[in-house]
Amino acid sequence: MNVKDIISRMTIEEKFTLLTGKNNFQTVAIERLGIPSIAVSDGPHGVRILEDGGKVRACKAVCFPTSSAMAATWNPGLVRSVGKALGEECGALGVDILAGPGTNIKRTPLCGRNFEYYSEDPLLAGELSAAFIEGVQGEGVGASLKHFAANNQEFDRLQISSEVDIRALREIYFKPFEIAVRKSRPWTVMCAYNRLNGIFCSENKSILNDILRDEWGFDGFVVSDWHAVHDRVKSLKASLELEMPFNDKSAAVLKEAYEKGKITEDEINSALERLLNIVFRISSARSRRLGEYNAESHHGLAKEAALEAITLLKNEDMILPVTKEKAKRVAVIGQFAMEPAIQGSGSSRVIPGNVDSPLERILELAGNDIEVEFSLLYDNNFNGADISIKGLNKAMEAAMNADIVIVFVGNYTDYEAEGYDRRTMKLLPEFENCILRVSAQNPNTVVVVQAGSAIDMSAWIDKVKGVVFAWFTGQAGGSALAEILFGLASPSGKTAETFPVRIEDTPAYGTYPGNGYASWYSEGIMTGYRYYDTYDKDVLFPFGHGLSYTAFEYSCLRISPEAASEGDTVTVGFKIRNSGGIRGKETFQLYVRDMVCKVLRPYKELKAFGKVDLGPGEEKEVFLKLDRDAFAYFNASLNAWHVESGVFQILIGSSSRDIRLKGSVNIKALNDFS
Ligand code: BGC
Repeated sequence: MNVKDIISRMTIEEKFTLLTGKNNFQTVAIERLGIPSIAVSDGPHGVRILEDGGKVRACKAVCFPTSSAMAATWNPGLVRSVGKALGEECGALGVDILAGPGTNIKRTPLCGRNFEYYSEDPLLAGELSAAFIEGVQGEGVGASLKHFAANNQEFDRLQISSEVDIRALREIYFKPFEIAVRKSRPWTVMCAYNRLNGIFCSENKSILNDILRDEWGFDGFVVSDWHAVHDRVKSLKASLELEMPFNDKSAAVLKEAYEKGKITEDEINSALERLLNIVFRISSARSRRLGEYNAESHHGLAKEAALEAITLLKNEDMILPVTKEKAKRVAVIGQFAMEPAIQGSGSSRVIPGNVDSPLERILELAGNDIEVEFSLLYDNNFNGADISIKGLNKAMEAAMNADIVIVFVGNYTDYEAEGYDRRTMKLLPEFENCILRVSAQNPNTVVVVQAGSAIDMSAWIDKVKGVVFAWFTGQAGGSALAEILFGLASPSGKTAETFPVRIEDTPAYGTYPGNGYASWYSEGIMTGYRYYDTYDKDVLFPFGHGLSYTAFEYSCLRISPEAASEGDTVTVGFKIRNSGGIRGKETFQLYVRDMVCKVLRPYKELKAFGKVDLGPGEEKEVFLKLDRDAFAYFNASLNAWHVESGVFQILIGSSSRDIRLKGSVNIKALNDFS
């Protein structure tokens, strides 16, 4: 029987009940018509099973690195594998839809959920989201691409209106959704809590129907963020099919609107059709699921991901890796070395299986050759890190007697969370003080930061030789971190967000977080590096930055054709050689710069990227393809993507500010408007 027939056999009351959840995380079943209930669970970096009352069931699942860490891998293949593993876990745990990926743009470093999001760059966020969705859905489990759209702060998220101009929406805030929807066809999309230009996203027909469905071809259903529906009738008309969670008023509200002629049976039926198409797609996919997973191998995958995520930001005098030639004694300082911060808090928080301790692995790797002295120093809690004078003195003494000091600091789990933003981009003052005191004792200090988003390091960055950004790398991140510190693997993580010098330098400063009713995105398209590069601002670490223990040389740039027409594919090839002494991975980045344009364009924009794994002395030629999108901007008066004729510079970089090769291509546009 097809879906239309099933709908024709429903009573009108049954129709209304299907459009709202059965409880917190399940949909309504109608047995007599063979309609099953489907189960939703958070996401995105682990499967979090909640019992009906909202209590976390004591169900352990593998805690993978959070999205901001996964983004630092710049590796869609790895993100796809993690998605696949999550899909397997969902299958085994009876979950039909995983609420993720979160693909919102990092507009400000302060957003409490930045750890759940990928990047400040729409291409990187979009490609990684697409890979994640492919991985999950390949296992017969639906993904829920969230939160559509312009949900870039937690402050006042339930009612704030993100006021964004059309060009910024298209080029920045919608773009990752567009890429993911077109490439990987998610089965569901979750709307955001906030208003967009005055209209709640849950009631916004222009985005949920006209853009998402009619333009991008989305054929799944839209689910509300939890309790994001304010007016069920408006939201249904806007193409929001499933209201979550259960709302005891919804069915009655819909019924009344129907009886008064405010919604038609056709509108109800077509919403049900979109919903049930996916419900049946999911129920028939259940037979494809493995029904079990290997927690140990998923832990191994989580470690592999962490190894590629951990980002070496600074390494003066090659202080890292720690080797027995460089150090006989190492002081390890800070509770995070023993109990790492592996994730942020809120609906994504997972009950992890085994959590690897960095210290344990450090002790193993140090063996008998290197003496390790550990000082706990602080005890993390919500009110700060308690550091006693006695504890600090002990740590300073250990630092004084060591060849290398490794200080572990970061944001504990509740500090970066859903529902509120960070108040500052700085570490706790206690941590800053500790770094300053320790580095004053011993300049050979390395700081390891566990956090989900950029940190202001201005108070201490010049006082230390090394900085390793460990991100929130999930349950296996601890051993990965120790292995990077001790050189078992060369770091290859690169920032997927700019690390500004101070919050006052950031593009949204002054307009974020708005006035409680609205938040004006007056920086427009100039988010992240687009802003810093266009206006030539100093940054602490640029977008795409990350050091390695080896070195890479770029050469032989070839662009073909050198003169192309709009719509032609342009192929960019070049060689990368590992010129250092050890195996390593390198992420290469291709930026396009429109040399002359009638409208303001960012100084450069990421348009392609890739990653290679090279042994010492090994060289590879790599190719990247650019299509029309790489040269187009969204023209607000045409209300369409537009390419202008002219020269476009092609910049190949190891980071956005470390450009190694330059070339250009001449594009002849189809329509040049004067
Ligand atoms: C969050 C979503 C999450 C949902 C269900 C909401 O508060 O914003 O990301 O999927 O809860 O837990």
